[in-house]
Amino acid sequence: MHSYGLERLLVFCLALLVATAASSTHDRRQNSAGCNALTLAQALPTNAKIELVEALEAGSTYGDGWADLAYPIQPTNLPALCAVTVAVASSTTSAYRFGLFLPAEWNNRFLAVGNGGFGGGINWLDMGAGVQYGFAVVSTDTGHDSTTGNTSWAYDNPESRTDWGWRALHGAVTIGKTLTQTYYGRPMDYSYYSGCSTGGRQGLKEMQMYPNSFDGVVVGAAAWYTSHLNTWVTQVASYNWPAEDEKHIDWRLLPPIADQIVKQCDDIDGVADGIISLPGQCNVDFDALLCETPGVNQSACLTAAQAQTLKNVYSDWMTPEGEFLYKGLSPGSEGQMYAVLNYSDASPYGIGYARNFLLDNKSFVLSDFNDSLATLADELDPGNATADHYDLTAFRDRGGKMVMYHGAADGLVPMQGSDLYYDRVVEAMGGNMTATQEFFRYFMVPGMQHCWTTTVDAPWAFGAPSQASVFGNDTWSVPGFKDAQHDILLALMDWVEKNATVDQIVATTWNTPTNVSSGVLKQRPLCPYPQMATWDGTGDLNDASSWSCGGDVTTGAVPTSTPDSSGEVSYVPWKLSMILATVVIVLTS
Ligand SMILES: *[C@@H]1O[C@H](CO)[C@@H](O)[C@H](O)[C@H]1NC(C)=O
Ligand SMILES: *[C@@H]1O[C@H](CO)[C@@H](O)[C@H](O)[C@H]1NC(C)=O
Ligand SMILES: *[C@@H]1O[C@H](CO)[C@@H](O)[C@H](O)[C@H]1NC(C)=O
Ligand SMILES: *[C@@H]1O[C@H](CO)[C@@H](O)[C@H](O)[C@H]1NC(C)=O
Ligand SMILES: *[C@@H]1O[C@H](CO)[C@@H](O)[C@H](O)[C@H]1NC(C)=O
Ligand SMILES: *[C@@H]1O[C@H](CO)[C@@H](O)[C@H](O)[C@H]1NC(C)=O
Ligand SMILES: *[C@@H]1O[C@H](CO)[C@@H](O)[C@H](O)[C@H]1NC(C)=O
Ligand SMILES: *[C@@H]1O[C@H](CO)[C@@H](O)[C@H](O)[C@H]1NC(C)=O
Ligand SMILES: *[C@@H]1O[C@H](CO)[C@@H](O)[C@H](O)[C@H]1NC(C)=O
Ligand SMILES: *[C@@H]1O[C@H](CO)[C@@H](O)[C@H](O)[C@H]1NC(C)=O
Repeated sequence: MHSYGLERLLVFCLALLVATAASSTHDRRQNSAGCNALTLAQALPTNAKIELVEALEAGSTYGDGWADLAYPIQPTNLPALCAVTVAVASSTTSAYRFGLFLPAEWNNRFLAVGNGGFGGGINWLDMGAGVQYGFAVVSTDTGHDSTTGNTSWAYDNPESRTDWGWRALHGAVTIGKTLTQTYYGRPMDYSYYSGCSTGGRQGLKEMQMYPNSFDGVVVGAAAWYTSHLNTWVTQVASYNWPAEDEKHIDWRLLPPIADQIVKQCDDIDGVADGIISLPGQCNVDFDALLCETPGVNQSACLTAAQAQTLKNVYSDWMTPEGEFLYKGLSPGSEGQMYAVLNYSDASPYGIGYARNFLLDNKSFVLSDFNDSLATLADELDPGNATADHYDLTAFRDRGGKMVMYHGAADGLVPMQGSDLYYDRVVEAMGGNMTATQEFFRYFMVPGMQHCWTTTVDAPWAFGAPSQASVFGNDTWSVPGFKDAQHDILLALMDWVEKNATVDQIVATTWNTPTNVSSGVLKQRPLCPYPQMATWDGTGDLNDASSWSCGGDVTTGAVPTSTPDSSGEVSYVPWKLSMILATVVIVLTS
């Protein structure tokens, strides 16, 4: 840490010389003149040093390449920018790095992007998407270099856990902002965050601990409840193993089961479109999945023991004493459930957390897992990673705005965990949903898997973190729809900067969901919780204008399509209206 001191003094003296020389070349643009280590180093705290500064021409490719285990793919076709890499000593035994893109054409705003899983690496790819909007963009490696599922770096390493938990992002944001303002020679107008999964957790954590860091925050599929989520992952695997047991569901059975679940749950919202929009209202009929039930497709059926496993996966995780520990996955997520069910040794997100974060015991095995690990995780909360502060008064009062979203078909991080977070925030904010919605809105994304894509042709792309890179290494926002109606980051900017509330976001999918050239298949609004998208009953199902936001996903109330005399749409609990309709049909026939 102290070794940077002398270096910094030298750098400062050199910088003074350079600054004196530069003042005579007054016609040079501030930003291109500033793209050098000497100038930028002046702005660093003593524990930080510049690793690399490079001025990139428009069209460049940039990143750490294969040395960056979490993000080896480099963004291409970048705009002209100054690329900076900084190394920061975070304790006597730990350090993190961060990357900063400073575009020549700056939109006067700052953006931090998040990471994924337990990965360590600068997320150059999402920085590339962010800089295309004009942001100065920062991303940290979170203090280590590893693939997303590899936790071995955390073993007996509390300082690095803390870097991953929150310290590296906070430092990257703080120092990154200072460098940005030094480089452009003026304060930034606004500061934003965008991240999914672990990135969602990072955004929530930073917003909770440092409410002034961001004016606007986008968080997706947030893995926020680290102490309970990462133990739940092991719990879920324990439902399904060992493979010899009759309860075991082979991963190959999951896609056909997903098809059966769609058949059961799809039309509860009144529209049979293959997309489950009210997963919380579907009471799965497990008998209808049993192989012994007459007429059941023998290639897509379960034994009674397997049906119980599936039921366990959907259920809340409770202690034997009835204490709630975590939420289960939603009906509709079976297609991606292999992400937690396909590990004989339990998922690295679960057993890896137990071994390397919680117990410092590399030999720990699934058969020794029990509920006590969640209690231990609560006590230790390694790295202080859990983002479980619900009172967001400080963030609200400084004018902060937040949009959160979660794919309902997420088979890795349960969407119901985001429902839980939102419900607890509403409770902490006095139980007033309307008041909470004035600064924090949550959007369920029917049919979307973890952070991106779909197997049921659900509109899934809306400018959320990492989504653009699914289409290509030089894409950003929503290809063809780069506006605040279709891009959640642009919508958030309008909310923060123009007080235009985010009442809906139109999501898009294509004939091949990840291939923009295959042509747009459909668009549909995502709605602020607890509302849902409701079809007008007549228009093209694939056209966003045939849908509007209303109803309540928590009760299953969908608005009837005809406005009542007051001009207000009236709300009838869907099941009640179905029963009434059935009664009417029976009576009149
Ligand atoms: C995990 O990372 C460690 C340390 O970098 C490495 O030795 C090990 O091979 C990695 N494990 C896997 C499965 O990639
Ligand atoms: C852990 O995080 C919480 C906010 O979530 C913060 O209040 C607390 O001070 C942190 N503790 C440590 C030891 O950093
Ligand atoms: C039975 O399930 C299999 C596997 O999903 C599927 O390929 C087949 O089309 C189904 N058969 C019928 C009659 O639905
Ligand atoms: C599930 O695990 C099996 C056996 O390890 C493997 O062959 C298969 O590729 C895995 N499937 C998925 C979808 O991860
Ligand atoms: C580590 O875990 C193994 C298997 O679960 C157990 O047998 C052993 O006692 C544990 N070691 C320690 C030091 O707790
Ligand atoms: C639960 O697991 C912990 C840690 O492995 C162990 O110390 C404890 O005895 C176990 N409790 C039960 C009831 O099995
Ligand atoms: C809830 O908050 C809204 C908006 O701030 C306010 O108008 C309303 O009176 C509040 N409701 C209650 C019951 O406090
Ligand atoms: C992105 O770059 C990687 C590595 O260069 C390449 O394998 C991949 O095909 C590229 N993706 C797209 C969609 O072009
Ligand atoms: C912002 O919009 C909200 C909701 O539309 C409104 O209540 C509030 O007065 C507006 N604030 C400003 C400063 O315009
Ligand atoms: C994307 O779709 C276009 C148009 O259908 C097709 O020509 C192209 O081959 C597809 N690209 C990929 C990578 O499948």
